[in-house]
Amino acid sequence: MLKLVLPHSKYLTSVKKAVTEYQAHPTPFDIHCINKMIDAEKNNFNTYFHDVENKRQGINLPEGHVPNTTLWLIENEKYIGSFDLRHELNDYLLQNGGHIAYQIIPSERRKGYVKAGLKLTLDYARKNLGIEKALLTCNFDNIASYRTMISVMQEWGGEEIAPSLVDGHLEHRVWINTQPK
Ligand SMILES: CC(C)(COP(=O)(O)OP(=O)(O)OC[C@H]1O[C@@H](n2cnc3c(N)ncnc32)[C@H](O)[C@@H]1OP(=O)(O)O)[C@@H](O)C(=O)NCCC(=O)NCCS
Repeated sequence: MLKLVLPHSKYLTSVKKAVTEYQAHPTPFDIHCINKMIDAEKNNFNTYFHDVENKRQGINLPEGHVPNTTLWLIENEKYIGSFDLRHELNDYLLQNGGHIAYQIIPSERRKGYVKAGLKLTLDYARKNLGIEKALLTCNFDNIASYRTMISVMQEWGGEEIAPSLVDGHLEHRVWINTQPK
């Protein structure tokens, strides 16, 4: 069964394999929380668990950051990917980043996992944070991510808005309802 969980040490065996894969197959679009996992693998996962929990609770946030929940997508107790869910938007996230970012391990891509995980994350956002519409953004060159957003938007409802210009590149922006039509 596919599920979203808060990061937990019981999944560390498959998480450590995932980190090896992420390092072997980097993309220009790798999300921030994956770099944190790579650091943890080099250093200490206990610090990682402490940091993600602090971010979830809004404790010791760096200037300009909003509270964030990191969720792991798990199937049959194996780590499949990560979802970062920002609890609110600020001016920066409105242009670049939005509410939700995601990454699937390279060996599990193109199997529908991100679409399934995104729906679970939207549901989590509505039930746990009261978010009714989530903003997603991606670089114009990230075809897989753009197709993901458009596909789930068409299924669940929402709207695409004008792209933003961020550091010289265009960013697609799509609002998606957090419950199915
Ligand atoms: C983007 C990413 C999360 C997609 O995950 P995935 O599990 O492979 O995606 P899915 O199998 O659920 O497919 C989602 C949609 O993207 C399309 N897609 C997936 N990989 C694709 C590719 N390499 N090229 C073109 N389209 C692709 C699928 O066809 C599907 O679209 P459809 O519903 O119109 O058919 C994954 O490629 C990844 O982790 N990339 C690196 C990190 C990243 O880019 N994160 C997003 C930052 S904004």
